[in-house]
Amino acid sequence: TSRRFFPAAKAQSISIMASENVGTLKQQLAKLFDESLRATIPEELDVEPLIAACNPKFGDYQCNNAMSLWTKVKGKGSEFKGPQAIGQALSKNLPASEMIESCGIAGPGFVNVVLSRQWIAESIQKMLIDGIGTWAPKLLVKRAVIDFSSPNIAKEMHVGHLRSTIIGDTLARMLEFSNVEVRRRNHVGDWGTQFGMLIEHLFDKFPNGEVASDQAIGDLEAFYKASKQRFDSDSGFKERAQKAVVSLQGGVDKYRKAWTQICEISRRGYEKVYQRLGVYLEEKGESFYNPYIPSVLELLSQKGLIEESEGARVIFIEGKNIPLIVVKKDGGYNYASTDLAALWYRLNEEKAEWIIYVTDVGQREHFEMVFTAAKLAGWLPAEDNKYPKTSHVGFGLVLGEDGKRFRTRSTEVVRLVDLLDEAKSRCKAVLIERGKSEEWTADELEQTAEAVGYGAIKYADLKNNRLTNYTFSFDQMLNDKGNTAVYLLYAHARICSIIRKSGKDLEELKKTGTIELNHQDERALGLHLLQFAEVVEEACTNLLPNVLCEYLYNLSENYTKFYSTCTVVGSKEETSRLLLCEATAVVMRKCFHLLGITPVYKI
Ligand code: ARG
Repeated sequence: TSRRFFPAAKAQSISIMASENVGTLKQQLAKLFDESLRATIPEELDVEPLIAACNPKFGDYQCNNAMSLWTKVKGKGSEFKGPQAIGQALSKNLPASEMIESCGIAGPGFVNVVLSRQWIAESIQKMLIDGIGTWAPKLLVKRAVIDFSSPNIAKEMHVGHLRSTIIGDTLARMLEFSNVEVRRRNHVGDWGTQFGMLIEHLFDKFPNGEVASDQAIGDLEAFYKASKQRFDSDSGFKERAQKAVVSLQGGVDKYRKAWTQICEISRRGYEKVYQRLGVYLEEKGESFYNPYIPSVLELLSQKGLIEESEGARVIFIEGKNIPLIVVKKDGGYNYASTDLAALWYRLNEEKAEWIIYVTDVGQREHFEMVFTAAKLAGWLPAEDNKYPKTSHVGFGLVLGEDGKRFRTRSTEVVRLVDLLDEAKSRCKAVLIERGKSEEWTADELEQTAEAVGYGAIKYADLKNNRLTNYTFSFDQMLNDKGNTAVYLLYAHARICSIIRKSGKDLEELKKTGTIELNHQDERALGLHLLQFAEVVEEACTNLLPNVLCEYLYNLSENYTKFYSTCTVVGSKEETSRLLLCEATAVVMRKCFHLLGITPVYKI
């Protein structure tokens, strides 16, 4: 049933401008099939084209609308006698397009599309000239808030915060690449009753009000522990700490100053980690939303959502055993009241259309209740596929090699900075062993060790479906074979070295050369490159970074296959193949960039 594709007479051609964002391959095909659907069955105007990659035996992509259209028009006197006939018509009514080489009908009206090699080649070439930004997917949202990292003041950042930081950063990078305006929000735990004991402890250590420097407070976590111990064992101290909370919340100067000081020291600690990870965030901590809580609760109250229960004020949520407490028995606000105020602020002041929260799965219940409350209040539409919307991006635990929750030998939580240090020094040792310290400058050695070491930690986390627990293993993540950042970074560096060694001026080749995809491995690599945008789109819509990792790994596999069958340097196809190498390197670099990994150019 396969035939060459001839454009239908009346359909007009859709021209695709080189420098404009054309959307993903799937979106471009959907556009063509949308036209065809309208021409084929004009009475079913609300039908969306269903396009999916298909079994390579039949083609590259498939349009799956015929069957469901048939069930709609069957028995209504339609001119079509079955899904097969609808498939035929869909194929015939496709507007002329350079994208498509041929169409075939299979099974109950599937329209299989074979893309044109020349079009694939030209699209890649255009991308090389106009930049990979022209391949960004188009998303429905314009502005998003991503709430991620969000450590708690005076407590060490641990591996849980590492997950939130790198997953959130990747999601932000992917949405930003897709032209969404992203607010990268650090919702730090900088407010709450624990500050009473911290401040009192600070006053006791510095009774004369000396300015406590970072050094004087020393390890903030130890400081936290010491004050907690006093709080639990000394009733006089406990009483003073509770009064301190009141003074702090009442805005008493001395207390505000102490609070600011403690926050500052904490902030300097985690800023260092962000700098090393290359992650940028804007802090609006819990304290920021505190002034909004009373009026936001008043709004919810007016909607009749807040009730009195056992001395607390709560919101009952259908299907949940416990209500969402918004004012505690003692009259204080809590995590939930802050989150309701923050959500209100993000919707009304920041006009966010998509608000994404990245925390461990343990907080799912909390967010479900907050989101439901917002729906009940009419802040969010009841349907999940409408905007504005909220999403909780949950993630699993990091396990040690013993299969238990990741801890160091002393059973303390693992400090993030120690992990980064170790990854870097292990990488450096390997590079030195390979004689790189003689070949490279000291700076190059440092930078490569950092790029590979930190990249390895990030990739080992991101490559798993975020909901599953994963085992933290330096040996595994630093292996230069298999699905690791080390392997991928080296693969990229090798491509760069092939290009360098060819001695050709790539900028010149981009303008004067042409890509041809005559060998099947060239075509497979070319098509895979072109699918980059729809993978980013899928990773964005489903908030799953592992989808991009999988793509990157497959890209490197496709490249290896191509490189093993197609000679590059010195062949008569050299120009075309060098351009294909360059396009692979460009897409790999964009993947690294989206995953927050710094590429290396030599190994
Ligand atoms: N500080 C919290 C924690 O460490 C995470 C905050 C997440 N964001 C939010 N809006 N509740 O568990």
